[in-house]
Amino acid sequence: MTVAIEMGQTTAGGLAALDLEELLATRLLVQGNSGSGKSHLLRRLLEQSAPWVQQTIIDPEGDFVTLADRFGHLVIDAEDHSERGLQVAGERARIHRVSTVLNLEGLDAENQMRRAAAFLGGLFEVARDHWYPMLVVVDEAQLFAPAVAGEVSDEARKLSLGAMTNLMCRGRKRGLAGIIATQRLAKLAKNVAAEASNFLMGRTFLDIDMARAADLLGMERRQADAFRDLERGQFMALGPALSRRPLGLRIGPTETRPRNAPPRLMPLPEATLEDARAVILADPPPESIRPQRRPSPNLLDQLMAAKSAAMEIPPEAVEQPLSAEELAERRKRLDRILSAILAEPDTGFRAIGVLYQEFVVRCRIEGLGSAVPDLGDFRRMLTRARAGLATDIAEDDAWQDVSLRATILPDDMQGVFMMIARAAKEGRPCPSDAAIARAYGTHSLRRARHLLTYIEEQGLIVCQLDGAGRRTVTLVELAWVTAPGAPNADEGSAEESCSSSSL
Ligand SMILES: Nc1ncnc2c1ncn2[C@@H]1O[C@H](COP(=O)(O)OP(=O)(O)OP(=O)(O)O)[C@@H](O)[C@H]1O
Ligand SMILES: [Mg+2]
Repeated sequence: MTVAIEMGQTTAGGLAALDLEELLATRLLVQGNSGSGKSHLLRRLLEQSAPWVQQTIIDPEGDFVTLADRFGHLVIDAEDHSERGLQVAGERARIHRVSTVLNLEGLDAENQMRRAAAFLGGLFEVARDHWYPMLVVVDEAQLFAPAVAGEVSDEARKLSLGAMTNLMCRGRKRGLAGIIATQRLAKLAKNVAAEASNFLMGRTFLDIDMARAADLLGMERRQADAFRDLERGQFMALGPALSRRPLGLRIGPTETRPRNAPPRLMPLPEATLEDARAVILADPPPESIRPQRRPSPNLLDQLMAAKSAAMEIPPEAVEQPLSAEELAERRKRLDRILSAILAEPDTGFRAIGVLYQEFVVRCRIEGLGSAVPDLGDFRRMLTRARAGLATDIAEDDAWQDVSLRATILPDDMQGVFMMIARAAKEGRPCPSDAAIARAYGTHSLRRARHLLTYIEEQGLIVCQLDGAGRRTVTLVELAWVTAPGAPNADEGSAEESCSSSSL
């Protein structure tokens, strides 16, 4: 059975059809300047194919959320979910075969990339049993697979580009058919564009884009001039799912409308402003009040809460019962995986979400997929590992007390506190600013010092400088004290044994 999706009419007046099965195998690239009708084309394709195949739309502007009412797509507002949450959502969408719109509106470029990558990763990573065919539409694909580095971090770009490359290069086997649209071919990473075998080229003005379009279509560059004259909604089609020769077509109407319809010209208000100057240039309202510092937590209450929570849910009891040895073995293997990740250069400066993703993947590779700790547990493992604590030390009674104290700090500070605690317990010199910065995942020494002050303000430690400017830290109540350490020592010296010994 072949399923022909009606896209509209050919310039000769015939029916312009898209072969859905062929499309699944050969992917599609849509190019055209702003306003040429790409999003409209994608909408037409989605609407026409919705009854036949599961679909998802990576939607940077939130334009496609209107598909939900008419066609039942689940709208996922990326803003409200973590990367991990989105990855899992991607997996589940495939398992349950639900069509979705990933609405990335309201996020900055960095987060659009990260979250789209996480969601695409989920679609991609799902187990073989769930490799049903699915259309994955990415509008404004150059945002996710940019040809050159932009303002976002290298890491976000790598994640996003990796996900797009996977989609276009390796998605077919997994049933994923990439359909990507871009305003400018020259802005789209070449390897991503090159994997599509079907093209719909709309109105294009810039020579460099026309040249690339002509190359992709196998046309002479001079023929590509015709792309300038295309009207809105008109495209030149080529590819196994469309036509074996370049074919002009006009995209038909859609049942739903974009949510963000373009602004229309409106007559200016007739009444003249009494005093435009006074209104427009009046003093700005006071800046919104800055978020207040967190109130100093009540240490005792928090400790009690943490302790009772810890007693209620023995962390290991959740799953099927394993023997103590099996559990210990499993924990050792998880620790080893984490150590391997931490041994990579620069790990200290990577976001926890990224580390966690990598951790999950490695666990799967090692056949520990069902034993992957959740993000909260992972944070704790990371904290422990960064402080240089092996699992067995961490289970020592005194250490349990220290970890419990650490819980009054934000997650990302706990590792630093534990690292200092360990130095204190063993009577080693106080870690330098550089070592603290590294454990905290920053390059800024100033931030490291602020951090120490913050921990001191929470009543966990007392910092003192001796006559030679060396620092000692005392742990409140436990009375463990570090040996004096130079705050400006470089990281390698006093600290080395601390950050790497037991990993
Ligand atoms: N085939 C068509 N028939 C009727 N209206 C169309 C057609 N194609 C596009 N339009 C209308 O033209 C306007 C611009 O189209 P669209 O938003 O699809 O452009 P675009 O190429 O996605 O632009 P951008 O790159 O800026 O997102 C929209 O209001 C859309 O409804
Ligand atoms: Mg558009």
